Amino acid sequence: MTTAWTAVAKVGQLVAGDVVPVTAFGRELVLGRDGDRYFAVQRQCVHRGGDLSEGIVSRGYIICPNHGWRFSTATGRQAEASEYCLASYPVRVVGDVIEVGIATQETT
Ligand code: FES
Repeated sequence: MTTAWTAVAKVGQLVAGDVVPVTAFGRELVLGRDGDRYFAVQRQCVHRGGDLSEGIVSRGYIICPNHGWRFSTATGRQAEASEYCLASYPVRVVGDVIEVGIATQETT
């Protein structure tokens, strides 16, 4: 397994607490900033499809605007019921570019 990376934003576009919609690898995601840490998770809430790009970031969680479910910005797990989890993606900063990664199968 390797990780493919793609640029989704520039450093400075997000301040702490921001969450914005991005598209990476043909998937609708949200990129957020929790304090000094960036995170990326699927855009659609696993409860009833709420748009997490309209959510807020607070105390280590992204909070869905529809019914208030809270998901860890570190793991994507729902705070109260661990069986609910958002797909989460690694994020890295290269120079002034924020990149999101996805695991890929290596072909030989
Ligand atoms: S749709 Fe997200 S909490 Fe209900």
